[in-house]
Amino acid sequence: MSLPVVTSGDNEVYEDPLDLMDEIDELKKEKDASILAHFYVDGEIQDIADYSGDSLKLARDATRVKTSTIVFAGVHFMGESAKIMNPEKRVLIPDMLAGCSLADSCPADQLAAFQEQLRSDGRDFETVAYINTTAAVKSLCDWIVTSGNAQEIIGRVPAGKEILFVPDQHLGRYLMEVTGRKMILWPGSCMVHEVFSIQDLIRAKRNNAGSKVIAHPECPQNILELTDFIGGTEKMRQHVMAVKEPTTFLVATESAMIHAFEKSAPQHKFVPIAGIMTSTGETCACNRCPHMARNTLQKVRDCLKNESPEVEWKDYFQQARAVLDKSLLK
Ligand code: 13P
Repeated sequence: MSLPVVTSGDNEVYEDPLDLMDEIDELKKEKDASILAHFYVDGEIQDIADYSGDSLKLARDATRVKTSTIVFAGVHFMGESAKIMNPEKRVLIPDMLAGCSLADSCPADQLAAFQEQLRSDGRDFETVAYINTTAAVKSLCDWIVTSGNAQEIIGRVPAGKEILFVPDQHLGRYLMEVTGRKMILWPGSCMVHEVFSIQDLIRAKRNNAGSKVIAHPECPQNILELTDFIGGTEKMRQHVMAVKEPTTFLVATESAMIHAFEKSAPQHKFVPIAGIMTSTGETCACNRCPHMARNTLQKVRDCLKNESPEVEWKDYFQQARAVLDKSLLK
């Protein structure tokens, strides 16, 4: 069986990571820049970042950065949100092609048409969007949530209103369960969390007696039903830190997350759960997000050096800004 290899999609020439890190340090000073890195990018990028964390923390960190430039090592919607919340700053992203399957699953024109249909059917609803959406989609929504604040924000939607939740059907289903609110769910999903293999999880549990399963709520219900702790990336990190007894954790999320777990809670062992290739049924290395994997030390260096690619301000960012600010900062 041949395993697909996750690459950045480009043919980078090998350069010594330590030299790259030194160069990045120099460029940060020269360009007055700070680096923000999501838990899903390579550990070496998290290690050189000024801020690392989950989507919620990084969105908030972006508003506290003192430098005039932000380099956002993550995926496109994260850099875009940082720009929306900080119009006066220059926001660079190492690779413009680092997208998000969830954001792709909900095009703004299709959402607008569906909202119009619901309104003409007389439905009284508010739209809650996961932050994994484009700015154009955010500008059509009432609230933005991350896995870290979703329950709290859903509590702010007036009880008499229906909720249209976009675009992650699995996160939406989980939120219906924990909040008791009924929702209309958009049929999107994350390409990484969607493919965790239930067989592999059961086998891993059998092979690791006494292990505990931790999973991101973007996972489908069949995985969450076998999970001991469900939470976004930061909540999972807090959970493993709080467990003092050395434990084996089976991890159902993007496997780069294990870097942050090992740094924060070195007393434990972390075992990644493999994904499944739906076309063949074979397991694969698809617990790495190919978009997050586009971030490399070389591209971080290059975007600092070239001051590009940059997220450009667009008119509709203004409306998205109001929704992001009230949802994430207030
Ligand atoms: P959190 O960092 O909010 O858990 O979300 C992970 C994610 O979906 C990144 O795309």
